[in-house]
Amino acid sequence: MLSSDTLIRNASVLDGSGTAPELLDVALCDGRIYEIGSSLACSAATIVDAEGMALAPGFIDVHTHDDISVVRAPAMPAKLSQGVTTVIVGNCGISAAPVKLRGEPPDPMSLLGARDDFCYPTFASYVAAIRAARPAVNVGALVGHTALRNNHMDRLDRTATEAEIERMRAQLGEALDGGALGLSSGLAYLSANAATTEEVLALARPLASAGAVYATHMRSETEAILDAMSEAFEIGRLSHVPVIVSHLKCAGIDNWGRSGEVLQALETAQSTQQIGCDCYPYAAGSSTLDLRQVDERVRITITWSTPHQEIAGQSLAQIAAEWNVTQLEAARRLQPAGAIYHSISEDDMRRILAHPATMIGSDGLPNDPRPHPRLWGTFPRVLGRYSREERLFSLPEAVHKMTAMPAQRFGLADRGLIRKGYCADLVLFDPEKIIDTATFTHPISPAEGIAGVWVNGVLSYTAQGATGNRAGRFLARGKTTWVQ
Ligand code: ZN
Ligand code: CU
Repeated sequence: MLSSDTLIRNASVLDGSGTAPELLDVALCDGRIYEIGSSLACSAATIVDAEGMALAPGFIDVHTHDDISVVRAPAMPAKLSQGVTTVIVGNCGISAAPVKLRGEPPDPMSLLGARDDFCYPTFASYVAAIRAARPAVNVGALVGHTALRNNHMDRLDRTATEAEIERMRAQLGEALDGGALGLSSGLAYLSANAATTEEVLALARPLASAGAVYATHMRSETEAILDAMSEAFEIGRLSHVPVIVSHLKCAGIDNWGRSGEVLQALETAQSTQQIGCDCYPYAAGSSTLDLRQVDERVRITITWSTPHQEIAGQSLAQIAAEWNVTQLEAARRLQPAGAIYHSISEDDMRRILAHPATMIGSDGLPNDPRPHPRLWGTFPRVLGRYSREERLFSLPEAVHKMTAMPAQRFGLADRGLIRKGYCADLVLFDPEKIIDTATFTHPISPAEGIAGVWVNGVLSYTAQGATGNRAGRFLARGKTTWVQ
């Protein structure tokens, strides 16, 4: 008879591939999936009766800003409580490494942490810090274009010179050698907006031979979104690198209803190159407070403000009324600040979420005192609200978008599927009950319906809460595969 560490009996196994569930036993040993079958003859130190429960590969949050959190607050309750076992950090052009600041972190690097938190001048030093911190979830890391610009340029409101690009490339190359998953950009932000397509392309080129990806918070998500998509696809096409469009959305009331043409453009590009995207399941975005996004028709909530700390949670409209100024003027006085923008149409969001190219990424901001609810709610909301209740897609499809698809696209070897020999990142949940509880008014609230979360075979979360075990690892880049 086989012997294992943990045997999960009679689970409805959603293996991550998107196919229909099967009633199976899954045995774990030494951090890996040891055996899968019906009525396994297997002894185990721990036996879990999973009758009525669904067992899926641990969820992969492809879009996070947990760079510094995984080191400073390694318990990661916001992620573990949703069944997330891997986070990908370094999105939107901003990463904790490699970074050398000369002063305060530029916007939006300030979203990741304060000046002292940026203490990883090399990618290797960041990897060492993750290993030493032993976070509760696995970590894969992109390198931010804005972070590289910060390291090698005296000012960020211009494009980089040849010599600067050369130094950025060398530093990116070092990170890729150290296991980075790829490059991210945040071209919409003023700290990267002056970079030309050529600058980004020069940095994207070395990704091809490394088998790495290019993820982008595009130059525009509003009026000029189609131009921004063309730019992103051109960079991918000329460099022969897969492109992942970050938090794809049609932002701003004037752009509502454009998801059809946006997805059409994505599909057209998909016929000749590798393109994917991620999306969070909410009709509101969140970032630093950007004066360009202040629109009196859009409800904007302030999440933090350095000069007015007491104001977190209030709407910009209220604040402006109280101060007897325009919203734009109030936004100026609040700087630097963070905001939630209710500027996305629910219909567009649903159409993008349901598209087969779309992976799930929370874009959660762990340092916000009053974060957007996506930080705690994204994954159970996709499963409970959008799959079970709204039937936007089947449960196997929903699981596929958060497991195998991201593992294959980002090159996370042996993860994202329930297969013999794969790493034992698993989540056990009640498919009838799983739901998010985090709201815009009470954003810090764990999901309902998660029964167990194993990270590398170690039980890390149960219905009673975190077990205190932290078994996450740094995940170096493996081989990517694209099915689209
Ligand atoms: Zn972004
Ligand atoms: Cu982001």
